Amino acid sequence: MKNLVVFYSLEGNTKFIASQIAKKVNADILELKTKKEYPNKGFKKYFWGGRSVLFNQKPELIEYDKNINEYDNIFIGTPIWVGTYAPPYNTFLAENKIYNKNIYLFACHGGGGAEKFYNNIKKEIPDNNFVSEIDFNEPLNNDKSQALKSIDIWIDNLNIS
Ligand SMILES: Cc1cc2nc3c(=O)[nH]c(=O)nc-3n(C[C@H](O)[C@H](O)[C@H](O)COP(=O)(O)O)c2cc1C
Repeated sequence: MKNLVVFYSLEGNTKFIASQIAKKVNADILELKTKKEYPNKGFKKYFWGGRSVLFNQKPELIEYDKNINEYDNIFIGTPIWVGTYAPPYNTFLAENKIYNKNIYLFACHGGGGAEKFYNNIKKEIPDNNFVSEIDFNEPLNNDKSQALKSIDIWIDNLNIS
């Protein structure tokens, strides 16, 4: 079985989680990066990021070299923006047909919204086997070691080869 961790991260929280998952399951990593970066500070961060969600934008992505079709288990991680996944996924899902995969979802947020992300992405790519999901409250600002422990327990229970 081949494992892939796909993620987008503006401020590093989702990246931190993605790296740990990839290490644990020996996965390849695909980081989504936008050609035009979102502001990552202050009011502008929420304004431009929030606007991008509300307008359902598809920001152009920097070219990536991983082919989804080659993988069996795909971990999909995002920060929660306005209660759902970040817009780089609008682009990624339009560029890739994801079906017949085992999907594992993970999210970082500042308090909530993961459920809506799970539901929304399941609607976008319905023809998959959604196995499990996990979310974290800004692990870089809170208890990092607790987050790492949670990942370990989560992965151990998944029985992924
Ligand atoms: C544009 C924007 C919208 C956000 N909306 C939410 C939200 O609806 N709910 C929430 O709990 N956190 C929200 N957050 C906070 C992020 O989800 C949180 O800080 C997350 O850990 C960031 O992950 P990252 O470091 O991987 O970018 C928002 C952040 C941004 C920039």
